[in-house]
Amino acid sequence: MIKKLLLLITVLSQTFFMVADEGMWLLSLLKKQEAAMQAKGLKLTAEDIYNVNNTSLKDAIVWFNGGCTGEIISSQGLVLTNHHCGYDAIAGLSTKEDNILDSGFYAKTKAEERKPMKPMFVSILVRVEDVTDRVFADLEASTSEKERDSILKKLSETFKKEFAGENSSLDVRLHEMFKGNQYFVFVYEKFTDIRLVGTPPQNVGKYGGDTDNWMWPRQTGDFSLFRIYANKENKPAAYSEDNVPYKPKHHLPVSMKGVKENDFAMILGFPGRTNRYEFADAVQLSLDETNMSIVNMREIRLTEWKKVMNKDVDTRLALSSQYARVANYWKYFIGSTEQLKRLKVVDAKKEEESKFQAWANNKKEYKNILSSVKVEVDKYKPYAKHMYYISEGVLTPEIMQVARYAYAVNLQYNAITKDNNNQENIEKSIKNFQAYIANRDWNPLLWEADQKLFARIIYKYYTDIPLDQQHEKLIKIAKKYKFDKLGEEGARKFIADLYKKSKLSNKESASKFTSKLSAKKINKDPAFDLYSMFIEVYVTIVLPKSTAYTSQMKVLGRTYMKGLMEMQPERNFYSDANSNIRLTYGTVKGYNSRDAVYYGYVTTMEGVLQKYIPGDSEFNLTDRFLTLARSKKYGRYADSDGRLIVNMLTDNDITGGNSGSPVMNGEGHLIGLAFDGNWEAMSGDIYYDDTYKRTINVDIRYVLWCIDILGEAPHIVNEMTIIE
Ligand code: ARG
Repeated sequence: MIKKLLLLITVLSQTFFMVADEGMWLLSLLKKQEAAMQAKGLKLTAEDIYNVNNTSLKDAIVWFNGGCTGEIISSQGLVLTNHHCGYDAIAGLSTKEDNILDSGFYAKTKAEERKPMKPMFVSILVRVEDVTDRVFADLEASTSEKERDSILKKLSETFKKEFAGENSSLDVRLHEMFKGNQYFVFVYEKFTDIRLVGTPPQNVGKYGGDTDNWMWPRQTGDFSLFRIYANKENKPAAYSEDNVPYKPKHHLPVSMKGVKENDFAMILGFPGRTNRYEFADAVQLSLDETNMSIVNMREIRLTEWKKVMNKDVDTRLALSSQYARVANYWKYFIGSTEQLKRLKVVDAKKEEESKFQAWANNKKEYKNILSSVKVEVDKYKPYAKHMYYISEGVLTPEIMQVARYAYAVNLQYNAITKDNNNQENIEKSIKNFQAYIANRDWNPLLWEADQKLFARIIYKYYTDIPLDQQHEKLIKIAKKYKFDKLGEEGARKFIADLYKKSKLSNKESASKFTSKLSAKKINKDPAFDLYSMFIEVYVTIVLPKSTAYTSQMKVLGRTYMKGLMEMQPERNFYSDANSNIRLTYGTVKGYNSRDAVYYGYVTTMEGVLQKYIPGDSEFNLTDRFLTLARSKKYGRYADSDGRLIVNMLTDNDITGGNSGSPVMNGEGHLIGLAFDGNWEAMSGDIYYDDTYKRTINVDIRYVLWCIDILGEAPHIVNEMTIIE
């Protein structure tokens, strides 16, 4: 009786006091969450979700190509993920003549399913093991971070052998948890024969484009379909025509019942990275120096690419995927900067830190953490911007990417010694260079954009980076081309000369250049020279500062985390996301975006029509779509009020990498898939705000409508287990 009462009290306290649905929970520790989950509406047990010996929900969840999540939704290995997760594969298969990115595509038979141009993989979790004790036993011997890293590397090899044995299709990964205070091994089965089954046209799959990205209200059909193929033994195998559809241990049933506000909702997926226990000073540094540097560098690339993408379809198709990728995080950093400020995250962190300091004052291990953080941040601050002006700026132009290969060859020439002419390595690096030139994109429109963006980037670099951190060669260039007097025009002249004089700026001269190479020839090329100059600055000035900063902050972060857990032994901590499978649970919920503005929890087809702008690149719709939508041909996918629900909101705790994750009801049935976060909580990776933080999902009934009715591919829906 007392036990029961205690349980009731825990459940009540968890439901009443833990209003926020913060937390990305490790599956092997789910038992601790079970009561709270059931109190919110879960009808399953922790073992139904994760079980090593019996089938469980986790058998239907896949890590999709290393950056997204997908779920298996048929007994024949059909995988559902986001459109933006399949985007690179879809765009890669598209040409002007067979433009599946713009027109959509559904394979009518398995034979029509498409092999992507680039290799892809999905991984399915086999099991998770807590190896903390073993790791710490070995780490005891480490005296420095460097040594620690090398011990961890060795351990990771040991675990690989131990957990995979002879089985080469098992992928074994050692992950730190709680900033290196615990360690877990994840064992996955990795499949590499993945084929495209279907996709809506991008005016559905990316409806609203970058204008609506990271925002609610939203009306996007962000999904695509793939299939896992295996050998006859149902094991992973390289692509082969003899492979057959994979038979999963479990596939998610699809619920047509729909959602109501406050319904239970959970998401299983692979969140990429959060930094929820970050220090206030480090957050301030990103606000002051880094975030907007990334935004500014990206913005230049995006505007110049857009101009040429609008000129020609093939150029647009070739650039679409990288444009989307760069634009996604361009907007992310704008939004997260805005929200970190609006939600006063630095102040909130400072308050947490002052509580910690009060507790730590008489504890030797912890009392100096926060003051050391300040010292480290102050030391790194003058260089933080430079880091991103290099990685997101001057090294990104096409011509610098070509020069990188020349640089690699030159390194091999430099490695020649008295008794080793290094011929083999030299030849290998030249072959790489030649293959790269033969295969890369030399589209003149792309290279036209490249000159423009490089001029703008290099000018901004010259004007924004402190002169004492710049290479004397660049200062000379700026003098010669009168950057100070002519402004960007000077940089344009310099870049025009560079592209004229370098052999690396078009396919013909680059192929000729690499057909007979020598160290002397490479060193005479001005693009190689410029690249080497930036690398020199990077290696001698920026990298030492950033490495020192990162490794010091890592130690401080780890100790802080340990202290926090010691200070609040009753608090149920969760580990930051780091690309392994987690569960988040919560409810379907709208929100107040600002004073007097309430956002409902679903959007409908009416909303799609309201946003329609004929001919627009982001809000266009086809005649067929318009006819079906206007005549409300929703089939069995309409809700009881005759509406077609398009997107919906939950208060689950997700981040990038969760894209494509299944949203499930209390029975573990699929009700939608997660695809985005909302603008008002863009600071979410650093700080979970329970008032604003929401997950944006596609309602599964819209997915089915797009496949069955808009896409006329009912056979794909028939493969699924539908629960009416
Ligand atoms: N913000 C979404 C995510 O990171 C990606 C949306 C892709 N769409 C776009 N318009 N770039 O998961």
